[in-house]
Amino acid sequence: EKAGYKHFMLKEINEQPRAIRDTTLGRVSLDTGKVFLEAMQISDEDLRNASQITIAACGTSWHAGLAGKFMIERLARLPVEVDYASEYRYRDPIADPRAIGLLITQSGETADTLAAQAELIAKGSKTLAICNVVGAAVTRKAQGTLTTNAGPEIGVASTKAFTAQLTALFVLALHLAQVRGTISDEESLHLVTELSKLPGKLASMLNINSPDAPGSSEGVAAPIRPSTRAAASDTERRSTVRLPLSAQCEELARLFHTSDDFLFLGRGIHYPIALEGALKLKEISYIHAEGYPAGEMKHGPNALIDESLPVVCIATKDPNDPSSVLKYEKTLSNIQEVTARSGRVIAIAIEGDTEISQLVEQTIYIPQAPELLLPILEVVPLQLLAYHIAVRRGCDVDQPRNLAKSVTVE
Ligand code: F6R
Repeated sequence: EKAGYKHFMLKEINEQPRAIRDTTLGRVSLDTGKVFLEAMQISDEDLRNASQITIAACGTSWHAGLAGKFMIERLARLPVEVDYASEYRYRDPIADPRAIGLLITQSGETADTLAAQAELIAKGSKTLAICNVVGAAVTRKAQGTLTTNAGPEIGVASTKAFTAQLTALFVLALHLAQVRGTISDEESLHLVTELSKLPGKLASMLNINSPDAPGSSEGVAAPIRPSTRAAASDTERRSTVRLPLSAQCEELARLFHTSDDFLFLGRGIHYPIALEGALKLKEISYIHAEGYPAGEMKHGPNALIDESLPVVCIATKDPNDPSSVLKYEKTLSNIQEVTARSGRVIAIAIEGDTEISQLVEQTIYIPQAPELLLPILEVVPLQLLAYHIAVRRGCDVDQPRNLAKSVTVE
């Protein structure tokens, strides 16, 4: 049932090319760029008149919601609020029947998320669900559901369901943009074309031949290039051999698995991915980890940095997007602040970025994609890093202590 993998989590990480493809399939036209969503009881008129989208979710699904805010606001120019489902109804939310509620939940049975949905409905909002389980409780009260077709997720730590949620959010954002007339046909077609390239990019990162083939641990992927300024040993410095992504993360796990704390940094849409990287690490390896917006470091957390602190920085950029490039440049100066204080930086960067590898100890490369789609690629090395660290520490990767797959109590 684990298809030859040691753990469900690793199997599910490797199923991401297929999960993304199946969540996109049949919903977008590669000829016109148009998005077609399954029948909903929310009309295009409702979507045009919506005052805002209110997202409520828990844990990893909440991280997807935070990233979805960037997608929807940027493409559809519609304000988005993101709440922890467990907080939503305790803040006496303001009733706004023109606000559309969006519940994001892998299981569709999370008690807090269902309670947030009930509160939204009581305040007069229509609700939509992004859910991985057909017929789950959340879908029965929703006016429409976008099913993530990730397939059953067994590992407690969510992986393929998360990237499928990001994909569903992107498709929804495009749909809203098309209905509301905030995107040109040309831009739609460009983004849909880029979306369709993701399964292939993920497959090559994971060293899988096609989204349908099982993963293999052999072969050639992106290179690992410890930089010259790295405080690495001679052997590490000389290891410029090309390793597959999973092997690179295994190597990082060897170097860092004894750390007591980890920091994950990102900016903009990459910040929720930093949060997700930190959550993956804490839940399966029991290492304390925090995700932080890169620009907030100087307002306090810089005090934590010393030579024993690994800092994972998401420093990706879309060169065709000026705001992405600007963010990247700001992130580079944040990285310099960390290295100046002897922090040990592991950067997630775009293939071919040699500027960054000069600055930091370790660089993991991922393929290029438009800014709003990069999260789907950049979370993969963070999942693999958490996985390999947890395995090295002898943790029960698929069944971490104190956690349940589906949390049906509030
Ligand atoms: C973390 C994880 C949890 C869930 C959360 C919500 O890896 O899986 O944080 O994301 O419990 O669960 P769902 O999405 O089923 O509502």
